[in-house]
This record gives sequence, C-alpha cells and structure tokens, in this order.
Amino acid sequence: MSDSTRVVLAGAATALVVLSGVVFAQVENPQRGRLLYENHCTGCHDSVAHTRASHKATNTQEVRAQVARWASELKLHWSTQEIGDVSRYVAGHFYDFGAVPAEK
Ligand code: HEC
Repeated sequence: MSDSTRVVLAGAATALVVLSGVVFAQVENPQRGRLLYENHCTGCHDSVAHTRASHKATNTQEVRAQVARWASELKLHWSTQEIGDVSRYVAGHFYDFGAVPAEK
C-alpha cells in the first residue's frame, strides 16, 4: 500500500467516525414527533387506540414496532429519526412506561 493510499484510508476512517458520532448524537425529539403524529396518524385514531384496555403495546419496543408498522403501512418513508421522534412522543404521552430508549 502506498503512503498516499494510507493517508486517504486514514482520512476516510476518521470521516466515518466523525459522521457516525453526528448520527448517534441525534436526540429523539418528542415535539417533532407530536407534529408528525398529529399530521399523519390522528385521522384514524386519537389516544383511544393507545389507552383502550386491550391495547397491544406493553413496552417501549412494542410502541416503536407499532409506529414503524403504521409508518410503513401509510408509506410515509420515515427515517429512523422520525420513527424515534414519534415513538418517544407516543410512548411518553399515551402510555405509562416512560421514555423510549434510544435506538440500539
Ligand atoms: C388507517 C387508519 C390508521 C392510521 C392512519 C394510523 N393508525 Fe394506528 N392503529 C389503527 C388501528 C385500527 C389500530 C388498532 C388495531 C391494531 O391493534 O392493529 C391502531 C393501533 C396503533 C398502535 C398500537 C396501539 C396499541 O397499543 O394497541 C399504535 C402505536 C399506532 N396505531 C400508531 C400509529 C401511528 C404512529 C400512526 C401514524 C404513522 C398511525 N397509527 C396511523 C389505525 C390507524
């Protein structure tokens, strides 16, 4: 491997580390999640779907799975960030098990 190749590879590796740091530093934003939820999701249900006695989601992972399911059902093409924002809002607002953990 030539020296210049080594330099390019090292630069690329550094860029990757820096970029992934930026991605993981993104905090889920329930305010934004609320707007997305109100725009796209309340046409069919409001809080009733989440608070009815037979509600399906019993933990934050299940809320996240449902949010991802509905986002894909509605072909919203939400990013992981947007699914996270909405999950955090829905879990924090309607359910009683606290905040959604950050994406693994
Ligand atoms: C086309 C109508 C419709 C739309 C639009 C819709 N939902 Fe739902 N949703 C339902 C119905 C019906 C249920 C309950 C049936 C079931 O449990 O599968 C449900 C259930 C859920 C649940 C699970 C509730 C529980 O704990 O049992 C979540 C979470 C949820 N929806 C989130 C969303 C989100 C987020 C959006 C917007 C991206 C959305 N929904 C849009 C109809 C809809």
